[in-house]
Amino acid sequence: MASEMANTSDSHPESLQRWPASTSPAAGHLSSFFESWSAWQYAVTFLLGVIVYDQADAATVMYIWRKGSIAGPPFKIPLMGPFIQALHPRFEAYLEQWASGPLSCVSVFHKFVVLASDRDIAHKVFKSPSYAEPCIVPVAKDILGHKAWVFLQGKAHAEYRRGLTPLFTNKAIASYLPAHERVLSDYFDKFVAASQANGGRPRAFMTLFREINCALSCRTFFGDYISQDAVKKIADDYYLATEALELVNIPFSMYIPFTKVWKGKRTADAVHREFAKCAAACKANMAKEGATPTCTVDHWVLHMMESERYRQRVAAGETDVEKPKNLIREFTNEEISETLFTFLFASQDASSSATTWLFQILAQRPDVLGRLREENLAARDGDRFKPFDLAMLESLTYTKAVVKELLRHRPPVIFVPYLATKNFPVTPDYTVPKGSMIIPSCYPALHDPEAYPQPDVFDPERWITGDAESKTKNWLVFGAGPHDCLAKRYVPLQMAGMIGKAALELDWEHHATDKSEEIRVFATLFPMVSCLLKSKVF
Ligand code: HEM
Repeated sequence: MASEMANTSDSHPESLQRWPASTSPAAGHLSSFFESWSAWQYAVTFLLGVIVYDQADAATVMYIWRKGSIAGPPFKIPLMGPFIQALHPRFEAYLEQWASGPLSCVSVFHKFVVLASDRDIAHKVFKSPSYAEPCIVPVAKDILGHKAWVFLQGKAHAEYRRGLTPLFTNKAIASYLPAHERVLSDYFDKFVAASQANGGRPRAFMTLFREINCALSCRTFFGDYISQDAVKKIADDYYLATEALELVNIPFSMYIPFTKVWKGKRTADAVHREFAKCAAACKANMAKEGATPTCTVDHWVLHMMESERYRQRVAAGETDVEKPKNLIREFTNEEISETLFTFLFASQDASSSATTWLFQILAQRPDVLGRLREENLAARDGDRFKPFDLAMLESLTYTKAVVKELLRHRPPVIFVPYLATKNFPVTPDYTVPKGSMIIPSCYPALHDPEAYPQPDVFDPERWITGDAESKTKNWLVFGAGPHDCLAKRYVPLQMAGMIGKAALELDWEHHATDKSEEIRVFATLFPMVSCLLKSKVF
């Protein structure tokens, strides 16, 4: 090598001039050496240098130390770790990761990530708010609002949430159902029209399922305060807000026109403005004598008004005033808008995923669809257009079992990212280091063969004659602990209403392809092929 340097130096004396006069002869030889390199040698050397730096830096040593005895690659995967997988996740890769151990780890860029596939460890993470809190990508604050309640933790979160829980009681849910009936009728007509417009050939239904869920949410939250045009616009554009929430974004992309984050932020801002307008209209309406609540925001505003009346009477010195069940403060239109936007955010992808699988699987299982149809017709005394109410939905044993099995078989949320806010001893042998992501998984518990024999078989019967109902610890569809899904009671009822009515008013066929059963991860689980259906009046 040394002779090579000397020779090179001799043959290219001009190269010395590129170095300052004070540069040592050794440096001169070095520069001559580099001079002889081709572009690809520079490129390879640069890459190797970066890898050596990446592997030799403190984070890599830390990776090995943090990994300890749990499963995972022995070294950090150079540079970005499994970043590409994180951007384009393969469902099979998650299955492999979960199978690798009850706890396993990866490093994405320099973030240390621990996945918990074990049911009991997952519970521990969900239920240890003093060690871990939900972790949403940084750009979420720009989309949801910097002061949105979902970013609160501990006591502040619990207090805010306590005021929202009564929006999902039986009484409240019952008042949302007439609006559901109207949205479903409207969209079922659209389903049939869409198939007819396609000449009766199968077409992708996933977009329509996203739309129907967006409309159901908007009408549940804001009733008739929101216009049909606004519902349609939100349904059309909302996916842009989801798309903006990628793990890693280009810095300042929110200010760069036509980037995903820019588009997502504009969509979110428009929805926030629309929702704030609806909140103002609701306050004006609920102030009228005898106004009855028919949507989420009506109930919330009513609770605010009852609370304010109570405070005024107490302030006036009255002593025997009955305390309202939901004593809350006044919320501004903007706060109402932000909060209801978090509901839309929480519901849209999960509900669209569940709807897509429900229609696809029932098309493939005429035995299940037939039984569900029978049950729903009997519950309506033979009149298939009779509207549903809460009592009817509660009585549908088989339909409810179908919905539960769907949520178990294809859980929309397969895991929930949390952040360890301090060193977190999740087992006697392993402590998740502070600042790491710790991800409790829902899917493995819902496919545990000990709790649910033959877990990959769609079998609603396990909820009726089997013992699935008793496996409460495995039921992680809605998470667990202080952040569990606020709508965990509402969702199965909403889905039972939708599929019961669809079974009586529609007939649909699934056009299976070799990819229909493959699973695609886009925030939640979807079929790889966009659910090709054709739909007609039953
Ligand atoms: C199939 C439908 C749905 C599924 C599978 C689902 C599942 C989940 C899961 C797994 C979580 C995280 C729980 C945790 O960290 O422990 C969650 C949180 C949440 N969900 Fe749902 N969800 C669904 C629909 C909805 C709907 C329709 C709404 C609103 C109307 C909603 C509102 C929320 C809210 C507000 C949170 C955050 C609660 C908090 O941080 O305190 N979800 N959901």
